[in-house]
Amino acid sequence: MILSLIAAIGKNNELGKKNDLLWNLPVDMKHFRETTRGHTVIMGQKTFESLAQDENGKQIGRLLPNRRNIILTQDKNFEKEGAEIVYSIPETMELLSKTTKKDEEVFVIGGGMIYKLFIDIADKLYITHVNASFSDAEIFFPIIEKTKWEKTKSTLFQKDDQNKYDLEFCEYIKKVS
Ligand SMILES: NC(=O)c1ccc[n+]([C@@H]2O[C@H](COP(=O)([O-])OP(=O)(O)OC[C@H]3O[C@@H](n4cnc5c(N)ncnc54)[C@H](OP(=O)(O)O)[C@@H]3O)[C@@H](O)[C@H]2O)c1
Repeated sequence: MILSLIAAIGKNNELGKKNDLLWNLPVDMKHFRETTRGHTVIMGQKTFESLAQDENGKQIGRLLPNRRNIILTQDKNFEKEGAEIVYSIPETMELLSKTTKKDEEVFVIGGGMIYKLFIDIADKLYITHVNASFSDAEIFFPIIEKTKWEKTKSTLFQKDDQNKYDLEFCEYIKKVS
């Protein structure tokens, strides 16, 4: 199994605020969809809840279509039909070891708590660097240490009418120690 983290982060590793994103970037949503489609995704309960709201603005969560959805939580009462619920990293890794093929890629899709739990055991990072700072951010991606991660791919995107910020789509591979 190849364990990958995928995230969009600001100049100071900003990820989100008020359990939501800090930007609306359709080009990054497309990149996320195309990269993760057909794969297993792992997310924290809070990120799951952030994916949809009801008519009153209450976060109600949504499963990502065309993907196997695994949700990490500490809440033993949490249920979601169509998702697999796990309560710890060892339990997640055991489930994956039993149910994924050797060369299969699995994506950790956030949020902040979950990235922190997985970054040290991940093999690969897909990071969209958003070329802006967000002083109101509350949730941050962990530091990507240059001694541990090698940038292997970089594609620049210039801001346009629909996407307010310049972006760099990057891939990082864990260095062999
Ligand atoms: N920019 C991006 O690419 C991106 C991507 C995803 C999400 N986000 C943003 O990130 C924010 C959400 O991140 P977050 O850090 O607040 O929450 P999160 O990582 O999405 O979810 C945290 C959940 O994981 C559970 N948890 C924590 N440690 C655990 C463990 N060891 N075992 C099992 N479960 C565990 C927590 O349970 P307890 O509450 O019971 O501790 C909580 O339910 C939102 O603002 C969202 O928009 C941004």
